Amino acid sequence: MFATDSLPYLNPNQDRRVALITGGNSGVGYYTVLHLYLHGYIVYIAGRSRSRVLKSIRELKQDATAIRSTYTSQQSSSERFLGDLFYLEIDLSSLASVIAAVENFKQLESNLNILINNAGAMALPYALTQDGFDIQIQTNFIAPFVLSTKLLPLLENTADRFPSIDPPRIIYLSSVGHQLCLRYFNMNSTFNYKPNFVFTWLRYGLAKIAGIHFMKMLALRNPKILCMSVHPGFVMNTNLFSYWTRLPIIGIMFWCLFQIFGYFFGVSNEEGANAIIKCSLDPTLTVEKDNGKYFATGGKESEPSKIAQNMDFAARTWIWTIHQLSERGISIPS
Ligand SMILES: NC(=O)c1ccc[n+]([C@@H]2O[C@H](COP(=O)([O-])OP(=O)(O)OC[C@H]3O[C@@H](n4cnc5c(N)ncnc54)[C@H](OP(=O)(O)O)[C@@H]3O)[C@@H](O)[C@H]2O)c1
Repeated sequence: MFATDSLPYLNPNQDRRVALITGGNSGVGYYTVLHLYLHGYIVYIAGRSRSRVLKSIRELKQDATAIRSTYTSQQSSSERFLGDLFYLEIDLSSLASVIAAVENFKQLESNLNILINNAGAMALPYALTQDGFDIQIQTNFIAPFVLSTKLLPLLENTADRFPSIDPPRIIYLSSVGHQLCLRYFNMNSTFNYKPNFVFTWLRYGLAKIAGIHFMKMLALRNPKILCMSVHPGFVMNTNLFSYWTRLPIIGIMFWCLFQIFGYFFGVSNEEGANAIIKCSLDPTLTVEKDNGKYFATGGKESEPSKIAQNMDFAARTWIWTIHQLSERGISIPS
């Protein structure tokens, strides 16, 4: 694990940099926000529940104050500055809400330095959203695709206006679960079969592989922006597992299983955030050498599955998505 302390601290009064993260109110997103805030970033936490995000903002401020109390007096007075925290409304299960969030954000900020597509849903039963996609595909892939592509002009504009600072970044939270697609990959597969506890993982894996393809295609098409995918690690105490742990009676069995798995193979929520923080703030990552790469637990550069690396598949995923969106009347900036 690298030390987040070694990453640069900004003074937001002299160098105002803006980050937008989906789902920053819980799990690994929470600790990602905490460190961006401690490093002087203006962070917009995009979430579907105003009350949950505002509660997390209060807790983040308390946690940041506690961490700052451990700084030396020089660090707190002249080297390390807090950024700011804001709420942005977004519900990824509605593409209209995603588009409205982009419009709201553009009214609030003229620059965007870091976009983190962190929010996700895992292992839910098959269910169609109002846009006609399975809930897991939409939350984990389609909505991040729409959010990122709609914000691309702002990110590119930021790159053009500030050519001497780090290029803007887009980070996508994938998962080692993308490997579940094995040799079979087809974006038209709905995997809407029984039993759910088997096929739900294929829907999750498909979404997370599509997200890696998306970062690779963006890296190819937008060389001004640094795009990366991340697997944070097995982080068993986040809300991601709550569909299973809240099931009546057998939920307790799943909870015990996840805890045992986490004991042997898991990392804490804060350790899980490390890879995202590294991809967000590490100045040694560059568009020339790192664009489109995949990073695993602790920020270790890794290779995703062969299907995820395959650029023919990535191009097909891109075309499939554009086609699906255009059928729904949604165009993306060229
Ligand atoms: N935990 C792991 O072991 C693990 C492993 C690999 C990859 N990941 C990925 O890491 C990311 C973060 O997961 P986590 O473990 O930190 O889980 P988490 O605590 O459940 O966080 C997920 C976040 O996504 C938000 N979200 C879910 N559906 C949404 C929607 N329709 N609209 C807006 N926001 C929505 C949640 O908001 P609410 O609070 O409103 O529900 C929550 O803030 C996910 O993309 C996940 O797939 C996690």
